[in-house]
Amino acid sequence: MKLEQTESTGVARMRKSAIKGIGYHVPAQVITNHDLIDLMETSEEWIKTRSGIEERHWVKGDEAASDLAFPASKRAMDMAGVSPEDIDLVIVATISADYFFPGVSAQLQDMLGLRNVAAFDIRAACSAFVYSISIADQFIRTGMYNTALVVGAEAQTKFINKSTEGRDIAVLFGDGAGAAILQPSIDESGILSTHLHCQGKDMKNLWMEGPGSSGSNQINKLTIEQAKTYEPYMNGREVFKNAVVRFPEVIQEALDKNNLSIDDVSLIIPHQANLRIIQSVAKRMGVGMDKFYANIQKYGNTTAASIPIALCEAFDEGKIKAGDYLILAAFGAGYTWASAAIRW
Ligand code: ACO
Repeated sequence: MKLEQTESTGVARMRKSAIKGIGYHVPAQVITNHDLIDLMETSEEWIKTRSGIEERHWVKGDEAASDLAFPASKRAMDMAGVSPEDIDLVIVATISADYFFPGVSAQLQDMLGLRNVAAFDIRAACSAFVYSISIADQFIRTGMYNTALVVGAEAQTKFINKSTEGRDIAVLFGDGAGAAILQPSIDESGILSTHLHCQGKDMKNLWMEGPGSSGSNQINKLTIEQAKTYEPYMNGREVFKNAVVRFPEVIQEALDKNNLSIDDVSLIIPHQANLRIIQSVAKRMGVGMDKFYANIQKYGNTTAASIPIALCEAFDEGKIKAGDYLILAAFGAGYTWASAAIRW
């Protein structure tokens, strides 16, 4: 591990990364719960009481994940004061890349006019932004890279069945992107620790079967006509039950690793899957909802984009100040779950 001398004390300490800039972007099209009633058999009451969601943004026409990732990245770069030449790593967290391959990261590198630097996508669904922050942090800690662009971007509503048949999923999801610039920390601030988990045995409780290389899944006339394998499937009750256990566990793991108590933490920014999940996690941890940031009411579940969008909004609302301890926490398909302890 790379050690650096602090200027003031001359004491050697471990190099770590810090978030120096953030930005987000959502598509212009707003879909209210009322708009959904025109598309499927549902009600405002069902959606709001089951999920807390009031509206969400959906991409329209040709709009794709890269179109959302680009402005979010520019904003994060502006805030951090970095130019395209400074960036030496691009990671995009997404399950809804513009193309099956290559990843959005390759497109974004070109769109932003970056050098021929490392660029790859991470497909850990709702946990992918925290996974990506962890990966970028490792590269910076070892000294291999100095400036990383980490983006969560989803245009996932293109895969969603927006009729009554798909209503259990369609009402929950939205599109958007959030980005962060990470650079070496020169003071106490930074990513203190990250914690990543997966339990693959439950993967079929939340998955999209195709397109994929599994035997039954080869693209042919029949699978296209059936279209079934090209839509996400979710066992909502099972996902809910697992999420409310894993969120507190992984938040506690981050606290324990850093000898922090929940009272030391100013704000927990959870993946925005469902307001009822966040409320249930707060209750299980014995803390008030004011400890948790929630903006799912406006955006729905934006999968890999939800945490960076929430981070940006919490910052814009003045809820994050220098020196604060924050925890990012995620749970989603895989199942994957993850957390990051951050000193802002
Ligand atoms: N509008 C109206 N009725 C609906 C809708 C809808 N959009 N969707 C389903 N229903 C109906 C069902 O058909 C069912 O009808 P039935 O009783 O006649 O069969 C009824 O509502 C109840 O359905 P349930 O699935 O039992 O509803 P539940 O109370 O479990 O709520 C929900 C469903 C919101 C998905 C819940 O299980 C949940 O919150 N799960 C957590 C999963 C989650 O949040 N996932 C987000 C993605 S994963 C992630 O990011 C972690």
